[in-house]
Amino acid sequence: MSDKNIKNEKMEAIVSLAKRRGFIYQGSEVYGGLSGTWDYGPLGVTLKRNIMNLWWKMFVDDREDMYGVDAAILMNQNVWKASGHVDTFTDPLVEDLETKQRFRADHLLKDAGYDVDGLSLEAMTKLIQDNTIKSPNGNELSEVRTFNMMFKTTVGPVDDESSISYLRPETAQGIFTNYKNILDSYYPDLPFGLAQQGKAFRNEISPRDFIFRSREFEQMEIEYFIDPSTWEAEFEKWIGLVHEWTNALGLPVESVHELEVGEADRAHYSKRTVDFEFDFPIGREELLGLAYRTDFDLMNIQNAAGKNMEYTVKGTNTKFVPHVIEPSFGVERAIMAVLSTAYTEDEVNGEKRIYLKLPEHLAPIKYAVSPLLKNKEELVVKAREVYDALKKKHGNVVWDDNGNIGKRYRRQDEIGTPYCVVIDFDSLEDNTVTVRERDSTEQRRVSIEELCQ
Ligand code: GLY
Repeated sequence: MSDKNIKNEKMEAIVSLAKRRGFIYQGSEVYGGLSGTWDYGPLGVTLKRNIMNLWWKMFVDDREDMYGVDAAILMNQNVWKASGHVDTFTDPLVEDLETKQRFRADHLLKDAGYDVDGLSLEAMTKLIQDNTIKSPNGNELSEVRTFNMMFKTTVGPVDDESSISYLRPETAQGIFTNYKNILDSYYPDLPFGLAQQGKAFRNEISPRDFIFRSREFEQMEIEYFIDPSTWEAEFEKWIGLVHEWTNALGLPVESVHELEVGEADRAHYSKRTVDFEFDFPIGREELLGLAYRTDFDLMNIQNAAGKNMEYTVKGTNTKFVPHVIEPSFGVERAIMAVLSTAYTEDEVNGEKRIYLKLPEHLAPIKYAVSPLLKNKEELVVKAREVYDALKKKHGNVVWDDNGNIGKRYRRQDEIGTPYCVVIDFDSLEDNTVTVRERDSTEQRRVSIEELCQ
């Protein structure tokens, strides 16, 4: 089997587990689905929140220089005009001349083995024509055109030019528009950062690869405001912090790669970008990005809104518009990296086992508690006591008395529960329980007092 097939097989196994066990479902599935949208079930939403809470703790709560914001998704249309998104937030598109289906030109070319980095629309069109590249349906393709990825909508009852708005394609602009508010409320010392988590929307021409490229997704972004003379040193510090983050997610160091993005491929606002790529089952792809956005956004606001964006260094008359380093994290890509790192197949007692080797601090369920036999009242009563105490302490604890113990272990392994606690007849005598560890499958006897304290 080819390497690509093996990788695809792993991806399919993860997608299937995610659906079967209630992590992630296709959006609107009951109506046949809506392409590029995904719904999170009970385990998925907890995994997602664990990742987002870890990020918030690491980058906001544990630091003195960071301020959280939560801006509205719908914003004044001038935000997107000034930011350049109305004019330049585009993807290259080709149309199947028979079916009228649209595809990402760069994806088709990449899939056909061509390097498209930095190619103009004309150059892509030429590559397609010279090499008679066809659509996935086998038909002729149109010339390559640009396609704006923002979802357009109207706000209020009147449908005219003035009511146009967009679902935000990045959370970043909600941060820039609040920079002045934070200065007025707190006047922090430079450097300082504003952090936001929330939904963003992009009308991807061809959403694909499970939650990797979807139309509605969640971002965690920081705009870190700095004195421009310090940008190189600050950028390096953020490279280090990003690696701390991927370590905290439990991603193998050797699977995370830095890619210095060339000028032709950088976003319109960036003077330096490092993409952090990860070895996903679908191949090496972008996990998150670090960009030096200069004063591009604050100057745009200053010019378009006519408001002064200068920062006055405390106790001096020195004034300047701060520059910005932006680490931008995609939640879904973090989930996909975590799931694909955790997905493991092994053999236990001669039987194939699938388990998620999730880091304990990310696992949706920490403990599953079981009475050895569910029809023995005294075991159930004791197990309930242990369950109640653990639940009160940790929250993410489940009761599982379905099927035999072996089946319960397999079920919990598959969703990444690190510990299964079983109350047996010895527990009634000596107040101890067995704690079975997911990865090693080893069991140890622990006193209830120690476990629940
Ligand atoms: N704010 C950067 C991005 O959304 O790609």
